[in-house]
Amino acid sequence: MQEPLVYIDGEFYAKSIAKVSVFDHGFLYGDGVFEGIRVYGGVVFKLREHVERLYRSAKAIRLDIPMTLDEMIDAVVKTVRVNGFRDAYIRLVVTRGVGDLGLDPRKCSRPSVVIIVEQLEPILGAKARETGVSLIISSTRRDPVYATSHEVKSLNYLNSILAKLEAIAAGADDAVMLDSRGFVSEATAANLFIVRGGVLATPPITAGILPGITRAVVMQLSQKLGIRVEERDITPTELLTSDEVFLTGTGAEIVPVAAISGVRIGERVPGPVTKRIIEEFDKAKYDPANGVKAL
Ligand SMILES: Cc1ncc(COP(=O)(O)O)c(C=O)c1O
Repeated sequence: MQEPLVYIDGEFYAKSIAKVSVFDHGFLYGDGVFEGIRVYGGVVFKLREHVERLYRSAKAIRLDIPMTLDEMIDAVVKTVRVNGFRDAYIRLVVTRGVGDLGLDPRKCSRPSVVIIVEQLEPILGAKARETGVSLIISSTRRDPVYATSHEVKSLNYLNSILAKLEAIAAGADDAVMLDSRGFVSEATAANLFIVRGGVLATPPITAGILPGITRAVVMQLSQKLGIRVEERDITPTELLTSDEVFLTGTGAEIVPVAAISGVRIGERVPGPVTKRIIEEFDKAKYDPANGVKAL
């Protein structure tokens, strides 16, 4: 089988030789931004929304992407096309570019743009949507909004990695992170919803979350299904005593949570509300109106 082709600054390279400089500040300092996007049936799901978020993240860190938003959309579509994957995961990365060993971003003359397309199972496992996952509540708090806020999808994921390591050490699949105040924020790479009395709730942006694209889609689909959604602070106790809990993300998709810190959530997995949302999401992700056709 031919190797996947990786886009780097306008050229395609076979995966085994696709490289960036060790002087790139993305490598040296995690100075950059990224997106994870999925392709369903040849359509790049919510591509414009992802690219718009990429440009907002870049703006927040004063990184001038050397392409227009539409040129970026075209580059993503072209990379999917040359690889020919109808169902795939795209990693779109923009780094500060090559500089010197100091962290002054002004030394980096041009940001690097990398687009990787690969086939990828849901990151918490293909079976997770049926069996649910186990979580812990991590002792590492979500980066606060007054510091390296996760409103910016930056290349700095150490905050999440520390929580993930704690989950692995505890034998759990993933971790819920609390915000700096002690309210529920999100999982390491996914947003979180609870269901109580048939009403959905999800933490607000002020809880240090990434404003997830899947989260937004789930909120829209819920409204369509006549399920009320609240964006509000959630306490750890509410979380543990909810009827249902599920995670949402491009990598994870929609994943029911079976247990948190040893406490079983709900009667069965997936719970009835989560199940309806998964079914509706499965329809939405193959709807060409929800993305940009590549193949
Ligand atoms: C920290 C974090 N939160 C939430 C999400 C979910 O966001 P999205 O639905 O846009 O993929 C991600 C992305 O995978 C993430 O890395």
